[in-house]
Amino acid sequence: MLRLVVLISGSGSNLQAIIDNCESNNVDAKVVGVISNNSKAFGLKRAKKHKIPAVVIDNKGYKYRKDFDEKLLYEINSFMPDLVVLAGFMRILTPLITSAFKGMMINIHPSLLPKYPGMNTHQKVIDNKDYEHGVSIHLVSEELDAGPIIAQAKILVNYNQTIEVLIARIHRAEHILFPKIIGMIASQVIDIKKPLLNENIIYEEYDF
Ligand code: GRF
Repeated sequence: MLRLVVLISGSGSNLQAIIDNCESNNVDAKVVGVISNNSKAFGLKRAKKHKIPAVVIDNKGYKYRKDFDEKLLYEINSFMPDLVVLAGFMRILTPLITSAFKGMMINIHPSLLPKYPGMNTHQKVIDNKDYEHGVSIHLVSEELDAGPIIAQAKILVNYNQTIEVLIARIHRAEHILFPKIIGMIASQVIDIKKPLLNENIIYEEYDF
C-alpha cells in the first residue's frame, strides 16, 4: 500500500476524493498525513473527520523561505511517504523540497499544461476564447507547473455557462483523474521513477 502525504492550502476537495478512493479500496494507497500552510484550510477538517494526522506549517510564521522549507521537509519525511501529493498547495517550493522528493512528488494543475502555468487559469481560458480547458497531473520539478506531464483530462468550454460552472466542471474532472492516476502509480501501471515520455501521457476527455 502506497503511503501518501497530501499538501493542501484550502478546501481540500481533491484530498477528499483521494481519501474516499483509498477508503473504498479503489486505490491501493493510504493518506498517512496531511500538511497545510494555512491553519484555516477546510481540508484540515476533512483530515480530522477521517482520523488522518494533520500538521499546520503557517508560512506567515517564517521570515525566511529556507526555514519554512526545512520544516516542511522534516514534517513530510516524518510521515515516511512513498508519494507526496500537492493538492491545491499554494506555495512555490524551493529546490530543497523539489530535489528531496524528485520522482516522488506530483501536483494537479487546473489547465492543459504547458498552457497557463500559475494562477487564474479559468479566466485565462475564457479571455483567450479557448474551446477546451482541462487539468494536468505532473511530476514536480524545480520550475513552477513545468515538470513532466503524467496525465491530462479535457472538457469543452461552454460559453453559455458562467465561470463558476466551468470551475465546478474542472473540479469534477480533477476528482476523477487525480485518484485514478494515484491508483495507477500505486499498482505500478505508471512508474514515475522512470523518465516519463510524451507518448506515455494519459489523455482523457470528459463529456460533462
Ligand atoms: C484545484 O483546482 C487544483 O487544481 C489547484 O488548486 C485547487 C485545489 O482545490 N492546484 P481543492 O483544495 O482540492 O478543493
